[in-house]
Amino acid sequence: MNSIQLRNGVSFPPIGAGLWKITDRQMMFQVMESAWQCGYRLFDTAAAYSNEVALGKALQELHLPRDQTIVQDKLWITCYGYEDAQTACKRSLKKLKLEYLDVYLMHWPASVRQSDNWEEVNAETWRGMETLYQEGYVRSIGVCNFKLHHLEALTKTAVVPPFLHQLECHPGMLDKKMEEYCREKGIQIQASSPLGNGQLLNNSLLSEAASESNATIAQLCLKWGMDHGYIVLPKTGNPLRMRENFSSQHIELSINTMQLLDNIPFCGGLAIDSDEVNNFDGI
Ligand code: A2P
Repeated sequence: MNSIQLRNGVSFPPIGAGLWKITDRQMMFQVMESAWQCGYRLFDTAAAYSNEVALGKALQELHLPRDQTIVQDKLWITCYGYEDAQTACKRSLKKLKLEYLDVYLMHWPASVRQSDNWEEVNAETWRGMETLYQEGYVRSIGVCNFKLHHLEALTKTAVVPPFLHQLECHPGMLDKKMEEYCREKGIQIQASSPLGNGQLLNNSLLSEAASESNATIAQLCLKWGMDHGYIVLPKTGNPLRMRENFSSQHIELSINTMQLLDNIPFCGGLAIDSDEVNNFDGI
């Protein structure tokens, strides 16, 4: 598996397992066990997923070697601020029974919808993230769901600019400007909902392109993301689908197929505008 290196040298696989919606302890154990056996080493959780305790227990019971396991977690918006961000991270570490996180991400930007001083809230929170990074609680820090103006505002005061940016990316949702910005600044993109939250899997255009590439639609979408240089984070609790998704690394996509997928119009996904959202239930 080709690895991806962040600016600070921390290395990542191009595909990880998204754990959103897996809250049951037994289910978490089974998902983690199957994922590890498939070859997944990167696991994506969040304080808001309410599954940190279950994940911590699974990591412990499966005796997964810590130095080969990449755990990323996200700070929830109600814990923004310099002090609160640090307290929340330490609470998450306790739940996960870990001494450090490999990645810690701000889950959403504070935006104009929530506060007039959103820039300050993000900047102060980021300062807390930087302290966690400098003190070794986290090996890398980043953001999720930021739009360009959120990132531009953050980098005005950031001492350590984000290493990663996790946002929804899949065929039909390619943000070329964001991709260019992140490339210029050395920010690694992670694609959340790389299958459009499952909504791309019955698309007839994608189905045609998938059979031409000897792939399933899921594999096509994931390899498209990886060929863009993204780390993709598909979610499934089904071991067969996990395997199918993991093996997408070996699919070859032609230039024509990439161009087709780059240019298809929106055909499903969550497409949440972080400046508009004010009800965060379930996301
Ligand atoms: P399930 O959990 O029942 O396997 P995304 O990663 O874009 O958020 O999409 C997640 C959705 O896609 C889930 O509903 C998941 O269903 C479904 N899914 C994930 N991998 C596959 C696959 N290889 N084939 C079909 N459906 C998949």
